Amino acid sequence: MNNAPPLLEASALTVRFGGLVAVDAVDAVIREGELVGIIGPNGAGKTTFFNAISGVQTPSSGTLRVRGRRLGGRSAHRFAQLGVARSFQTPRVFKEFSVRENVRFGLKFAGKRPRKWIFWGDERGVPWALRDADSILALIGLSAQAELPAAAITPAQQRLLEIGMALATRPKLLLLDEVAAGLTEAEIEDMARLIRRMRDELDLAVVWIEHAVGTLLKHVERVIVLHQGRKIADATPAEVVRDAGVIEAYLGDEMIDESSSEFDREEATA
Ligand SMILES: Nc1ncnc2c1ncn2[C@@H]1O[C@H](COP(=O)(O)OP(=O)(O)OP(=O)(O)O)[C@@H](O)[C@H]1O
Ligand SMILES: [Mg+2]
Repeated sequence: MNNAPPLLEASALTVRFGGLVAVDAVDAVIREGELVGIIGPNGAGKTTFFNAISGVQTPSSGTLRVRGRRLGGRSAHRFAQLGVARSFQTPRVFKEFSVRENVRFGLKFAGKRPRKWIFWGDERGVPWALRDADSILALIGLSAQAELPAAAITPAQQRLLEIGMALATRPKLLLLDEVAAGLTEAEIEDMARLIRRMRDELDLAVVWIEHAVGTLLKHVERVIVLHQGRKIADATPAEVVRDAGVIEAYLGDEMIDESSSEFDREEATA
């Protein structure tokens, strides 16, 4: 069937900051079209893992292959050429430029791929929804804000814009770091639906870090759980919620938090 190498293959990937091992010998594989969640407590190493697999942070040891090519070092541009795009936990948009110009910036970035790429694959293979800035803005629901400076849109819209900028590079692998942080329950559900839709319609794989585990587990097909830099689980949501190690390290607290806030709401309305 499909003999293509995995989009991403990390083996014993390790990132150290002085004496701290932020990512500790993590093995992980992401295949085409997958929708994978990453969860874990604050400081578990989730963002650092993203930094390492997007060329933002040089791994201390271990190996990394993107579509079969071995990459190391800080070479975000090389990762982007191979189809890896990401959002940042704190959105990075060009605030003085318009929303549309921000997306155009991503398109320009995509255009810097080696010629043969564009000639043989990209332009013809580009999903219709990613053909230009306006089609991307329509997909992420920001058409009405196209002319506004990015500084003038809400933080939630800036997160969407950052996703749009990442999509404009026509990725094969989209890494989303807490894009639903600070959103209301309804907005988190909308974000989850957008994420599924991107995966389903744009021929890409998505890896999604989020603390809103209830929503995340409902939508992803596989979950990687990090704890103190180590991968402690890599399984379906149904398996992960029953995993004693995961409950102890993370889900126990999250579930208590969620049920106590529900309890508070009931108390408040009683
Ligand atoms: N540039 C850095 N220099 C030193 N330590 C760092 C650096 N970046 C992250 N760390 C440390 O590495 C550990 C992992 O941090 P990381 O940001 O990857 O966690 P996280 O799982 O994304 O947490 P959160 O859920 O709070 O976003 C933490 O102890 C953090 O303080
Ligand atoms: Mg983080």
